[in-house]
Amino acid sequence: MATKHLSIPLFLLLIVSPLLFFSSSLPWGGDDAASWKVPLRAMDLLPLLPRRVAWPLLRSLRSAVDLLPTFVGSASSPDADLEWKGACFHKNTAWMEFHNKSKSQFGGGTLHIKVRNLDCEEEEPQFDQVKNHGVSIFLMESGMIGTLQALWDVFPLFTNTGWGESSNLAFLEKHMGATFEQRPQPWISTINVNDIHSGDFFAISKIRGRWGGFETLEKWVSGAYAGHTAVCLKDSEGKLWIGESGHENEKGEDIIVILPWEEWWEFELTKDDSNPHIALLPLHPDIRAKFNNTAAWEYAKSMSNKPYGYHNMIFSWIDTISGNYPPPLDSHVVASVMTMWNKIQPAYAANMWNEALNKRLGTEGLDLPEIIVEAEKNGTSFDELLTIPEQDDWIYSDGKSTSCVAFILELYKAAGLFDPIASSIQVTEFTIRDAYTLNFFESNSSRLPEWCNKYDDVKLPYCQIKGRYRMELPDYNSMEPYPHMNERCPSLPPYYERTSYC
Ligand SMILES: *[C@@H]1O[C@H](CO)[C@@H](O)[C@H](O)[C@H]1NC(C)=O
Ligand SMILES: *[C@@H]1O[C@H](CO)[C@@H](O)[C@H](O)[C@H]1NC(C)=O
Ligand SMILES: *[C@@H]1O[C@H](CO)[C@@H](O)[C@H](O)[C@H]1NC(C)=O
Ligand SMILES: *[C@@H]1O[C@H](CO)[C@@H](O)[C@H](O)[C@H]1NC(C)=O
Repeated sequence: MATKHLSIPLFLLLIVSPLLFFSSSLPWGGDDAASWKVPLRAMDLLPLLPRRVAWPLLRSLRSAVDLLPTFVGSASSPDADLEWKGACFHKNTAWMEFHNKSKSQFGGGTLHIKVRNLDCEEEEPQFDQVKNHGVSIFLMESGMIGTLQALWDVFPLFTNTGWGESSNLAFLEKHMGATFEQRPQPWISTINVNDIHSGDFFAISKIRGRWGGFETLEKWVSGAYAGHTAVCLKDSEGKLWIGESGHENEKGEDIIVILPWEEWWEFELTKDDSNPHIALLPLHPDIRAKFNNTAAWEYAKSMSNKPYGYHNMIFSWIDTISGNYPPPLDSHVVASVMTMWNKIQPAYAANMWNEALNKRLGTEGLDLPEIIVEAEKNGTSFDELLTIPEQDDWIYSDGKSTSCVAFILELYKAAGLFDPIASSIQVTEFTIRDAYTLNFFESNSSRLPEWCNKYDDVKLPYCQIKGRYRMELPDYNSMEPYPHMNERCPSLPPYYERTSYC
């Protein structure tokens, strides 16, 4: 399929799908039943149907990946070769012919769709079904927004139940090759805070509820085996504090906090309903010797109570035009999700990406369609726009933006851990995986505190302090920082191989 420039109205308009039918039938009721006699395969169409159709369809999905739409293309002129392969039709083309047969102010057009090579022999009844029922065409229209919300509602990854938790584990096992081996009890360590020092890192993996589902998708796209992070800070009296970006305050906002250890640990043990798994990654003694605690505290205090960095979160994993999107995601899908989200929750969308995209374009206050138009005027495709690296000194309307891991790495930068190359490191380009693969951590397991992994027969190179399943952090503690680290890295499942010095 040839990649096309986005043409916004049609891009929103057209989804054509040759159907694949199953012999089983779903109990779809309602007035539309006649036209919806057969189940569809979500893989072959954008799942943007009216809500009453979407729900039963969802139950027939085999995995959450099936939910993600595949972008076929934008139908434009007859010479443009928009072509795709459906389940039964192997060579399909579509084009748009603009004319003024209606003699109206803006003219009109005819949308042509040509299907060839009907090929469903494996399943004879399906062939007949296609002949009898034809090819279905779906328009993305206002109804799709309800459907998207429906998807969100039923998305099992996000449900705070045992079922939701096992959906998350199954997703990560299937799509990342993660394993979830049960550890011996107790699943919570008895910790001596004297063994914890400033700069030590917490890798946290949430597997349940809203945050669990969110982290699962984030892990999948970024290749990280943890979805959240926090950092230790000791004050001059030796009291332990935890710095965390993305802690929920009483108003339900996610902000940056510095909490006493006891309060933070109590929260993780008793109030966090995401079943967090937590590992302590102690700094290597040589790195700890470099750590300027005064400067780290100054930075942490300067960020305290600021909002969590939604602005640049997605940009830490989009570095290359084609090397960061696990199929069926691609930049068109990202654009389509962004476009739809713009309509569903404009304020949230502005937060999530509009401001960051404006920064990349050197503009202010444009909304998403305007951004796409402006970028194309400038000769920059939307794909390219997404790959422009974030700059740590960009200031957003609500201040500097740091996600959980950017906050910690920025603190490391302030504390001198990236010296002498700190000025050529953009920490907002680091994912959580990039953080725990830095060679900043303890490499000699006999120096770990004696209470680390005490009752586990498998000795991890870090201290897992909470969780039923043993945490894995592939490539932990293996990478020396270098200038412009992680600004051009592909990251594709299931191996997330990176090119050297990307
Ligand atoms: C279409 O035709 C009508 C009537 O001739 C004319 O007024 C209108 O401007 C045309 N529109 C376009 C887009 O050419
Ligand atoms: C540590 O940071 C503080 C505050 O930024 C600075 O005044 C001090 O000189 C630094 N100490 C060292 C040893 O670099
Ligand atoms: C396109 O955007 C870039 C980045 O902001 C800017 O440097 C460049 O001058 C723009 N080009 C045009 C043709 O406007
Ligand atoms: C690991 O640490 C122990 C205890 O400090 C020390 O005896 C040993 O030599 C270290 N091993 C390595 C490979 O550095």
